[in-house]
Amino acid sequence: MQFRFSDSLKNLRPSEIRELLKYASAKDFISFGGGMPNPLTFPMDDIREIMDDVLSQYGSLALQYGNTGGLNDLRTEIKNLVLETEKIKTSEQNIIVTSGSQQGLYELAKVLVNPGDAVITEEPTYVGAISAFDANKADMHSISIDNEGMRTDVAETEIKKLISEGRRPKFIYTIPTFQNPTGITMSLERRKHLIEISKQFDVPLVEDNPYGELRYSGGRIPMLSALDKDASVVYLGTFSKVMCPGLRMGYTIGPEEFVGKFNLLKQALDLSSSTFSQYVAWQYLKRGIIKKQIPKSIDLYRKKRDAMLKALDEYFPENSSWSKPDGGMFLWATVDSRINTTDMLKDAIQEGVAYVSGNAFSPARSQANSMRLNFTFSEENQIYRGIEKLGNLVQKKVGPLQSN
Ligand SMILES: Cc1ncc(COP(=O)(O)O)c(C=O)c1O
Repeated sequence: MQFRFSDSLKNLRPSEIRELLKYASAKDFISFGGGMPNPLTFPMDDIREIMDDVLSQYGSLALQYGNTGGLNDLRTEIKNLVLETEKIKTSEQNIIVTSGSQQGLYELAKVLVNPGDAVITEEPTYVGAISAFDANKADMHSISIDNEGMRTDVAETEIKKLISEGRRPKFIYTIPTFQNPTGITMSLERRKHLIEISKQFDVPLVEDNPYGELRYSGGRIPMLSALDKDASVVYLGTFSKVMCPGLRMGYTIGPEEFVGKFNLLKQALDLSSSTFSQYVAWQYLKRGIIKKQIPKSIDLYRKKRDAMLKALDEYFPENSSWSKPDGGMFLWATVDSRINTTDMLKDAIQEGVAYVSGNAFSPARSQANSMRLNFTFSEENQIYRGIEKLGNLVQKKVGPLQSN
């Protein structure tokens, strides 16, 4: 018998990153591919102690089904956390706990998008958002970014054009701080402009902020949700990068009407996120362990970022360029325009080093000569060796082209 699959799967592409994760465990292999936090930052002892306490003090509740919206005590801690870290004022009924912010992205699209509806994204943007939006048959209009983040002037023109065609976009998706994949942070002026555009053209904003706490240099810039209380913003947060991804704990904050619909859909999806994980996350926040862990991660990652920047300076050919992020986990490197990083990846893997090619992050497929480099996972000596190998490979590819 043959399965007759739904049309919604047609747009989905296999993830280059997932494929690459297979190699990450091979001995001596250097992976700049995944977006994985460094396991050295995982608070193993604290989590072990919390799990024991949760089982002995709340076992009968923590192993039971829970509210779809999430554990109330955890939502209170999240409310306090976003107020303290990002100056975002919200309340428990505006928060819904999700199984990672990836679930938030999927649900967001499911709740708002009919097949073929326009949505605005950055170009390039997070590959998981592309999958979530593709799975819901959104028509992505991606807006280029420069050193100040999304080109909001270009976004404005695109939105006007879409509206004139009767296709008002359903939302504008942005990762304003330490963007994935580029590491770039959107300037305050652009953030303000984006809010103006959102209000003027009646298009809600969605801001995704997994990396905001991982700042190694520069000063904090307010999130869209904190800039204007009248703006219509959905905020996606996660504990994956500041605790551990394995518990799959994230959260979505939005206007009540939106959260209500989101909640209905979540009942159909998984009834609720893991109650046990929620109890662990609650205690992790309540005991203030997050405040101990973040500075440790920052110390570790800052050194790795600096090592990668130095290695790029040393080993990448002259006509390459790369971002210089103030935080997060990634650098975005662009090499000679005649190089296709998807093709080059096979050679890189042969050399024992991996990255994710630019087009994986590109709704417009326009990033063929760029690559995303993760600097948080590898050791410093691997970072030097890996970048040297990549630099040599780029040079080797460009050499024959130059003599033509
Ligand atoms: C921008 C962005 N959004 C969402 C996610 C999903 O994170 P999680 O589902 O682990 O919370 C990631 C993970 O890398 C990300 O980079």
